[in-house]
Amino acid sequence: MFHLTEEHLAVQQAARDFAQNELKPGVIERDTKGQYPTEQVRKMGELGFLGMMVSPEYGGGGMDTLSYVLAMEELSKVDSSCSVIMSVNNSLVCWGLETYGTEEQKRKYLPKLTSGEWIGSFCLSEPEAGSDATSQRTTAIDMGDHYLLNGTKNWITNGATSRLHLVMAQTHVEKGHKGINCLIVEADSPGVVIGAKEDKLGIRASDTTSIMYTDVKVPKENRIGEDGFGFKFAMKTLSGGRIGIASQALGIAAGAYELAVAYSKERQAFGKPISNHQAIAFKIADMATEIEAARLLVYRSAMMKDQGQNYDQAAAMAKLYASEVAMRHTVEAVQIHGGYGFVKEYHVERLMRDAKITQIYEGTSEIQRVVISRNVLNGDLYVPMTADGGR
Ligand code: CAA
Repeated sequence: MFHLTEEHLAVQQAARDFAQNELKPGVIERDTKGQYPTEQVRKMGELGFLGMMVSPEYGGGGMDTLSYVLAMEELSKVDSSCSVIMSVNNSLVCWGLETYGTEEQKRKYLPKLTSGEWIGSFCLSEPEAGSDATSQRTTAIDMGDHYLLNGTKNWITNGATSRLHLVMAQTHVEKGHKGINCLIVEADSPGVVIGAKEDKLGIRASDTTSIMYTDVKVPKENRIGEDGFGFKFAMKTLSGGRIGIASQALGIAAGAYELAVAYSKERQAFGKPISNHQAIAFKIADMATEIEAARLLVYRSAMMKDQGQNYDQAAAMAKLYASEVAMRHTVEAVQIHGGYGFVKEYHVERLMRDAKITQIYEGTSEIQRVVISRNVLNGDLYVPMTADGGR
């Protein structure tokens, strides 16, 4: 089903080269120190990795989702702190703005975001509203020509570095999720305070913070979509975001697999390479098979998005499966490396720590199961296999 074009292969190769040459040196140190990859993100902007799917009219690469997924996979094999910065900027912020923003909003913000001059963040989660995303407590009170924004957002990727926040907030509390709006908030607005950087298990170099908004005045023209569109905006945008995180999980799994295969061919035990022992060879067979299955789900969800099909269920399946494969097989990659797998120098322990977040952010595995089971039980027994929705 997947015939990668010359352009796809060129994007994949460029991303692979960038990851190996620019991200790999220093990745262990940045992880250990929790040091934000400022220089690497600047280069990602220069090379066009931060606005891959945005139209060239707004400074983007005008590429399809499959190209984006291929690049995400390559970067994630090496450095998931960089790839999550890329994913949030591309899938959640740029895509959301380009798809639902006004012409004025797009012209004002997209060129900055695609070049990397600005980084964006997506501010939905709150201290008491993570999976239960309709329970927003942040408020955006309509003051006539502006909204007055108050509340706290949690676990925000790019929290400290983003210059533009897409903030979901409740305007009409009595309307529940239909009263939520998405507002574009510039980070230097008076009343915006960034919390301390979280000290995380994985993706340690990316900055994850809380953000507090106190009486922040947001111009009315910064609302995305009609009044009350904010929750649907968040859900639609997150579906595409899940394809990005699925490709990150795929990359983490594939990165660990490649390292494990190479190590197993070099490492000798009982008179032969450990790859010649069936205990290791069978682990490698399982890794190869499950990673390939994850890749098919991830690429298919990207292609469905490119073909204008409903990809909610396919994206949820891709994220659910790829993140579980990433977790399972990074643990196996550490096991294949034995004691060496337990030290930083061999990279697999970092990949194992990074894998865990892919089961949590942009919807936990449990949330993906909610999305999938609702689709199935409402009648979509299978994901359509053809462009016209048939099988
Ligand atoms: N597209 C469009 N509309 C959608 C939708 C979609 N994919 N999914 C739901 N909706 C709509 C529904 O149709 C419904 O609208 P109507 O009432 O008009 O029919 C409305 O949204 C509410 O839907 P539900 O009744 O299904 O809502 P729910 O409370 O049962 O929750 C949920 C649904 C799937 C569990 C949702 O809350 C969810 O996805 N939660 C997880 C949130 C999440 O992923 N958070 C991660 C934060 S982002 C992040 O991690 C940022 C980062 O920095 C990396």
